[in-house]
Amino acid sequence: MKAIVVTDQAAGTAGMKLVERPEPQAAINDVVVEIHAAGFTRDELTWPPTWTDRRERDRTPSIPGHELAGVVTALGYGTAGLSVGQRVFGLADWYRDGTLAEYVAIEARNLAPLPGDVDFTVGAALVMPGLTAWQGLFDHGRLRAGQSVLVHGAAGVVGSMATQLAREAGAYVIGTGRAAGRQTALDFGAQEFVDLDNDTLEDVGGVDLVFDVLGGDIAKRSARLIRAGGTLVTIAGPTEARPADGRTIDFVVEPDRAQLSEIVRRARDGRVRTNIGNVAALDDAVAAFNPTERISGKTIIRARP
Ligand SMILES: NC(=O)c1ccc[n+]([C@@H]2O[C@H](COP(=O)([O-])OP(=O)(O)OC[C@H]3O[C@@H](n4cnc5c(N)ncnc54)[C@H](OP(=O)(O)O)[C@@H]3O)[C@@H](O)[C@H]2O)c1
Repeated sequence: MKAIVVTDQAAGTAGMKLVERPEPQAAINDVVVEIHAAGFTRDELTWPPTWTDRRERDRTPSIPGHELAGVVTALGYGTAGLSVGQRVFGLADWYRDGTLAEYVAIEARNLAPLPGDVDFTVGAALVMPGLTAWQGLFDHGRLRAGQSVLVHGAAGVVGSMATQLAREAGAYVIGTGRAAGRQTALDFGAQEFVDLDNDTLEDVGGVDLVFDVLGGDIAKRSARLIRAGGTLVTIAGPTEARPADGRTIDFVVEPDRAQLSEIVRRARDGRVRTNIGNVAALDDAVAAFNPTERISGKTIIRARP
């Protein structure tokens, strides 16, 4: 099969290569999925599981990309709950070969059924932002209707999904980002927007939850805005930012079938939409991940037309 591989961590996305690899086999509890659409998060190339296995042994050349939508073609021993020919979408294991390929072997529990009227491109684009926003807002942030949430990077891939899910849950959403992201953030449902380069973040007053994708000094300044009992949730890695009377949680997104089903139901109803910047064929994936100018939104790779 065709696949994108990486072998050199220092090279970043420039080190991606399109090669031929053997088709994966289904192990216990696995299915093999014929991939139609896949997504990739740039930071994967800095994460240890892209380069080593769980015993820290080199596992290169590795296939990056962990988001997928496709069709089940084989079931491993003992695998129940999915069937051959079923449309699925989900999040692949960080430590295994990923989804920038024609096929992937993946544990069935990482996948959810993809309804027949949801395009594979949309399915793949919902996975990472959908699960990350859901887990940050509701599992870790315990967001409730009537609360206020500050969503950093609200025009970005994860931030735009967090903005939509928070609004839909009845929260008041203040988005942030660069000036160029203002209209996008408002279009995704933010009720206010703070341009972090030109406005004063502290003017937003108190909030119940901060959903952070930026880290650093912005996370620290945001912690001071959190009301008593509130939470700072960050996906930008470990942080020293702490609210005076509240919690800080940093987390890495996990696969969750029930949450994927909730998210795709909202997409079908038109309650959430994807933030896709570019769609490219697998043959053109290396160029798509090394663009000459910045494209905002998710890049989705189509392994099949
Ligand atoms: N922990 C996890 O489980 C997890 C899951 C998913 C993603 N992530 C990480 O979360 C981060 C965000 O991912 P994403 O896919 O949403 O990225 P993205 O689409 O690039 O979104 C980031 C947004 O924030 C804006 N931004 C970046 N730096 C800024 C700054 N200094 N001031 C103001 N605005 C700024 C960007 O604007 P521009 O486009 O103008 O730069 C963009 O709108 C990435 O680091 C990603 O690796 C973590």
